[in-house]
Amino acid sequence: MNIEEIKERYPDIELKELSADFPRMPISDYAELSEYSWEDCHKGVLGAGGLFLTSDMVRMIEAKEGMRILDLGAGNCLTSIFLAKRYKAKVIAADLRVNPSENWNRIKEAKVTDSVIPIKMDAYNIPFAKGYFDAVFCMNSYLYFGTGDLYLSYLVQFLRRGGRICIASPCYAHELSSETPSEFLEEASVAYHSPGWWQHHFEKTGLVNLLHCKEHPEGRELWLDMVRWLVEECHPRERDEGMGDMILHDILMLLNDRQRFVTYFMLLAEKK
Ligand SMILES: C[S@@+](CC[C@H](N)C(=O)[O-])C[C@H]1O[C@@H](n2cnc3c(N)ncnc32)[C@H](O)[C@@H]1O
Repeated sequence: MNIEEIKERYPDIELKELSADFPRMPISDYAELSEYSWEDCHKGVLGAGGLFLTSDMVRMIEAKEGMRILDLGAGNCLTSIFLAKRYKAKVIAADLRVNPSENWNRIKEAKVTDSVIPIKMDAYNIPFAKGYFDAVFCMNSYLYFGTGDLYLSYLVQFLRRGGRICIASPCYAHELSSETPSEFLEEASVAYHSPGWWQHHFEKTGLVNLLHCKEHPEGRELWLDMVRWLVEECHPRERDEGMGDMILHDILMLLNDRQRFVTYFMLLAEKK
């Protein structure tokens, strides 16, 4: 189906008509997710990647039992629960907007009340001791507060020496320019920096050793997988509402993007 046809027929498109472009992420490739269904990997996660991206990040920080992790911008704290359940880490699920009482209900349901603490917290006002955390984990959130030049020097104070920070977020393969086609623009586009930009942003501080900063090899596929999940979750009529605009925008953007301009990056840094 071509783009014009999709625009004309949306939301009355059968998913199978788009299947070739929307294969599900192959869950059997992820040993960590053996106890989860594909649906579980997306349910409640606020952004693309779901527990697939979480697993890639967890491998990077080398999560282990007892590790103190700050899940910064944790949203519905599904990532915090995964870190606690699977790796027995001690996690602070911190978010500015998501109600910690709602997260506490999720934590109780997942039976990880001894390991995950939900708090309402602004990333600019971290109420913990300096050097307290072994790792900071930021999935789909760092771009909302961490693009300022001074933020990293604030955040690393709360990490122990050798502690790791792992970030994964949407990005563009190159920085935005006046030539970037408008269909690639989104609400938060101005913070979708290229991996090269992030590398410089971190390295120039002199506070961390950068261990990894690259496009995720399956960034576009992770994003498509989220769109597939949303399409499967939302009935076509519901897709007429605001959510529908977002889904249609993402379908058109991703299907147009044969150059893989819209993708994801992952960054891993260690405090010096
Ligand atoms: C796209 S959501 C991702 C949530 C979660 N990490 C996930 O993957 O499902 C971004 C989250 O960042 C949080 N956030 C934005 N600015 C923040 C700030 N200054 N301090 C703490 N959290 C913030 C938002 O409330 C939101 O829940």
